[in-house]
Amino acid sequence: MLSQPSVPDLDATFDRLADALSARGYAVLPAALPGEIAEQLQRRVATLGDSAFRPAGVGRQQDYQKNRAVRGDDIHWFTAGDHSESAYLAWMEQFRQALNRRLFLGLFDYECHFARYAAGSYYKKHLDAFRGRSNRVLSTVFYLNEGWAAADGGQLLIYNDSDEVVASVNPEMGTLVVFLSENVPHEVAVAHRQRHSVAGWFRVNASIGAHIDPPL
Ligand code: OGA
Ligand code: MN
Repeated sequence: MLSQPSVPDLDATFDRLADALSARGYAVLPAALPGEIAEQLQRRVATLGDSAFRPAGVGRQQDYQKNRAVRGDDIHWFTAGDHSESAYLAWMEQFRQALNRRLFLGLFDYECHFARYAAGSYYKKHLDAFRGRSNRVLSTVFYLNEGWAAADGGQLLIYNDSDEVVASVNPEMGTLVVFLSENVPHEVAVAHRQRHSVAGWFRVNASIGAHIDPPL
């Protein structure tokens, strides 16, 4: 008898991610999303020409040369108009609700963009949010690069409070990384070939800041 193709159980996936997040502040999961979503996103990002991307910014930094010394990626924000992008956003919406049920994070919405690192590019060690100054709570990075070898560089390095590297993640197609935006310093090592990812952030409601309880 033919066996059913194995469909990853969504609840089990969300359990694993939530457990790792609450234990360590970050989670790394290969083949996290359905393969079709990863493949559609990979095709989509490959068809986007350079004119669809713009240099990524750094905080309030306006100086292009200073920006490029910190991060070399070019970005393209998602919209619901493209079917691969809307499929990814729909998965993240399920993930948002699952995390709120499991960890009571009060996540309100999600935004994300494609990032293209040309060979030679990197992103120096940074945090995605500064305590009390941003409504970004949880960062996600999803990778779209088939057959990434360690020698290709471009690893995501995750640090602990003592400035030690606790994880080095190859940006391999299908791998999802999730981490607390205010608490987890991270870096993109120099990539030696073109590197595509989807970087995103779950946010709390800006109008109430980080305060989930309504004022009395
Ligand atoms: C970011 C980021 C990591 C990556 O965009 O803020 O840290 O691996 N990206 O692409
Ligand atoms: Mn980051």
